[in-house]
Amino acid sequence: MKRKRYAAGLLAVVIIFVYAGNVRSEEKPVACVICHEYLDGALAGPVQEWRGSIHQQNGITCDLCHGGDPGVDLGNIRQLTPREFADRQSRAMAKSRGFIGKPSGRVMFDVCGKCHAGSVDRYANSIMGKAYLDDKGGPSCTVCHGAHRNAIPEVPKVCESCHSDTTGFDQIDAMNVTASTIGELSRIRIKLAEEKAKGRGPALLPEFPEDLGSFQIGFVAFGAVIVLFLIGFLVYGVLEKRR
Ligand code: HEC
Ligand code: HEC
Ligand code: HEC
Ligand code: HEC
Ligand code: HEC
Repeated sequence: MKRKRYAAGLLAVVIIFVYAGNVRSEEKPVACVICHEYLDGALAGPVQEWRGSIHQQNGITCDLCHGGDPGVDLGNIRQLTPREFADRQSRAMAKSRGFIGKPSGRVMFDVCGKCHAGSVDRYANSIMGKAYLDDKGGPSCTVCHGAHRNAIPEVPKVCESCHSDTTGFDQIDAMNVTASTIGELSRIRIKLAEEKAKGRGPALLPEFPEDLGSFQIGFVAFGAVIVLFLIGFLVYGVLEKRR
């Protein structure tokens, strides 16, 4: 009896903690999030991607990249008349409130550079960064990192849309490809070719932790536990019936 009460108490504490955490992160309503989520379709996509991203977790809201006024009071969005809706939209997305729409070209570097100045400088002075700024086909920040679920990309997978030979790409600094990187890359490639010729290819066993990532390992392990549990349950059921 006592143990049951203890467990219930513990559960209550956990629930309160989770709830309090959520309330804190949602404390200020962001008009951009509310309206775009309500809009559905392509205009809601950014909200879905942004939720749970590292930016959302760090309180980086839509307006910090797009500008505009996130504080416009929408009331109950479902009850707005079309005119009220248009009014709220134009107030939130007003140029006079710094709204810039979709950042592109040099503006994208300025936007990201507000918080990642070092990374932007590194990339802007690289071969690919220059090819982007000069409109010569270099990738923008969002090609590699995504616009709303920003993450460190998988190399060389993310490079394959533009480069047919990505050998050694995982061993160079993708953000800072310079003339010396090209030299480094050819040394890496010669070394890989020599190892292959000697029949000493890359290790036969895949590197389990690196290939999967700890989250996926956790997921697989969790799945395995569930499956074992189900098997145990079935065996138990069969044995019980026999008795
Ligand atoms: C009341 C509704 C509403 C609010 C509030 C709102 N938006 Fe929008 N937003 C829209 C609609 C509708 C569109 C698509 C039509 C258009 O571009 O005018 C849109 C389009 C956009 C676009 C795409 C523009 C383009 O050039 O493709 C961006 C970016 C955007 N919104 C960001 C924001 C940000 C940031 C905020 C908050 C500061 C915000 N929105 C607040 C309704 C809203
Ligand atoms: C870290 C910066 C950043 C944040 C935060 C951010 N955006 Fe964006 N958003 C961008 C960039 C950059 C683009 C342009 C993407 C491209 O061209 O690759 C974009 C594009 C868009 C578009 C146009 C999409 C299209 O496919 O045409 C909409 C709409 C939009 N964002 C809405 C939002 C909303 C709503 C939020 C808040 C939930 C938000 N964004 C948060 C950087 C951001
Ligand atoms: C208003 C500040 C702000 C802006 C603007 C911003 N970021 Fe961030 N970004 C952060 C913070 C805070 C973090 C999380 C802490 C950290 O890892 O630096 C982060 C994390 C990241 C990460 C993950 C880094 C890692 O080590 O996992 C990437 C990638 C990233 N941002 C890319 C971008 C890109 C691309 C843009 C422009 C489209 C952008 N950010 C705009 C503040 C910002
Ligand atoms: C060709 C793909 C590519 C492009 C384009 C790119 N990045 Fe990265 N970025 C990476 C990779 C890969 C890493 C992780 C390895 C590293 O740190 O160099 C990274 C790391 C980062 C980090 C983590 C901190 C750091 O500096 O290592 C941030 C922040 C970031 N990038 C922002 C940006 C911004 C902002 C832009 C545009 C100005 C951009 N990246 C362009 C591939 C790219
Ligand atoms: C959107 C297309 C695009 C993507 C994606 C891309 N690149 Fe590039 N890359 C370019 C362009 C354009 C150049 C410049 C070619 C030139 O000026 O000779 C270039 C040049 C390079 C060079 C130097 C020249 C060469 O071809 O060896 C390297 C190395 C390189 N990229 C590595 C990467 C890596 C690593 C990634 C992924 C993390 C990547 N690239 C993703 C377009 C892209």
